[in-house]
Amino acid sequence: MQEEGTYNYKVVRQFAIVTVIWGIVGMTVGVLLATQLMFPDLTYGIPWLSYGRLRPLHTNAVIFAFGGSALFATSYYVVQRTCHARLFCDRLAAFTFWGWQAVIVAAAITLPLGMTTSHEYAELEWPIDILITLVWVAYAVVFFGTIAKRKVAHIYVANWFFGAYILTIALLHIVNSAEVPVSLWKSYYVYAGAQDAMIQWWYGHNAVGFFLTAGFLGMMYYFVPKQAGRPIYSYRLSVVHFWALIFTYMWAGPHHLHYTALPDWTQSIGMIFSLILLAPSWGGMINGIMTLSGAWHKLRTDPILKFLITSLSFYGMSTFEGPMMSIKTVNSLSHYTDWTIGHVHSGALGWVAMISVGSLYYMIPRLYGRIEMFSMRLVTLHFWIATTGVVLYIAAMWIAGVMQGLMWRAVNVDGTLTYTFVESVKATYPFYAIRLLGGLMFLSGMFIMAYNTWKTVQGAKPVDAPVLAPAGAHA
Ligand code: HEM
Ligand code: HEM
Repeated sequence: MQEEGTYNYKVVRQFAIVTVIWGIVGMTVGVLLATQLMFPDLTYGIPWLSYGRLRPLHTNAVIFAFGGSALFATSYYVVQRTCHARLFCDRLAAFTFWGWQAVIVAAAITLPLGMTTSHEYAELEWPIDILITLVWVAYAVVFFGTIAKRKVAHIYVANWFFGAYILTIALLHIVNSAEVPVSLWKSYYVYAGAQDAMIQWWYGHNAVGFFLTAGFLGMMYYFVPKQAGRPIYSYRLSVVHFWALIFTYMWAGPHHLHYTALPDWTQSIGMIFSLILLAPSWGGMINGIMTLSGAWHKLRTDPILKFLITSLSFYGMSTFEGPMMSIKTVNSLSHYTDWTIGHVHSGALGWVAMISVGSLYYMIPRLYGRIEMFSMRLVTLHFWIATTGVVLYIAAMWIAGVMQGLMWRAVNVDGTLTYTFVESVKATYPFYAIRLLGGLMFLSGMFIMAYNTWKTVQGAKPVDAPVLAPAGAHA
């Protein structure tokens, strides 16, 4: 146990390193899925490598193992530095690390074995749900405990976003995990029919809004100003951004259920709130990007800033696209097609993964007493290979998606379908090849990062920086 005079960087280091590892694991499974979509017989006859079991493994690994570990690492780093206080309770912080890793390992075993609740992004069975709850309560205690013992009166806006993400995920997890166990590894939901669907997508959309967005906005509000060496563009805008985003996200879930048994008016509410959501999303993006005012030249030479600012551009793109896709008539074309997959990955790779990578490149040297990463040229290489990879991935999926939607709805003058389904599958094939290439590029970038991290950490002495004096606003 460390003394009070230093920050608890140990748990930050642990989460930072596993983020890189889980990123590689989760994205490797993504690449395997992309390959299977091109060669469906690839793992024929091996049940635990079948597409249906690997797909939830991919989503759980990238969202909860990679994204989750990045969120733990950055929130613990930011809350300590901006509160000028060591994390509340080292033991509980250590429990969140080992507990979260146990959740990930349990997921990696049970999902390929076919154990699932069958609710997307909430597939894990009830014993793992209970472990998640315990870890999450401990996380909340550590995070808010640190806020409570802070030495600065002010609570920096990044902590508002991290705090909202922690509270909301607790709420979503409890409500959407209401299951009745019938055996150790099987349970049934207490909800049924349209109510079940409604609750599932209230959960699903807010998982996007709070797990994949609010926490990463917390990263933006700390690491962009830090790396740019400029204060946040508008503090007032950040407060408006916070309340508007938090309020609006909650109501947008039904856009996932257009043209279903859900009452029509609920679908319309989902659509309207999704359209409104464009405003706070773009307010936040503009606040992040404009932080560079007066320091634009840094973008030319600083690859970490390139990661951070490019991620914000992808955030802006996916939060423009999302509201458009929520319009019922647009959704009637996009739903069930690869357009959705393109949208998902412009958010997931372009925004979530790139802001995490940028933040890690900022933190890792500081956690190990280095001035910067072992090789900044490799960071630059990573940036270009990742950006090209995302662009190839999402452009291929957009074209494939719109093409599929148009082919499925095309009718001849006599009312018969112009294309058979298999013709649309055949037409998609080249785009799947481009997506695979894009995915491979993004994954290669992660390997470059792992090598660079290894060389930075190798032989370095882990550092626990001294807690800053109470005065002074930011850390
Ligand atoms: C203003 C913000 C956003 C809005 C209004 C929005 C809206 C939508 C819509 C309408 C769909 C398609 C639903 C369907 O047809 O099934 C969708 C799917 C999805 N979006 Fe977004 N989106 C937004 C931002 C984001 C961001 C930033 C991310 C990721 C970081 C993201 C991740 C997803 C995911 C994972 C799905 C697929 C869900 C599924 O069917 O499994 N979205 N979104
Ligand atoms: C090398 C990188 C990646 C590759 C090659 C990849 C590939 C894939 C593939 C092939 C699918 C299935 C698509 C389908 O069923 O048609 C998928 C789904 C998905 N991936 Fe990825 N992925 C990558 C990274 C990520 C990351 C970093 C995230 C999140 C942070 C992510 C989140 C998702 C989600 C949420 C879905 C489900 C989408 C839906 O149901 O609509 N992926 N991915």
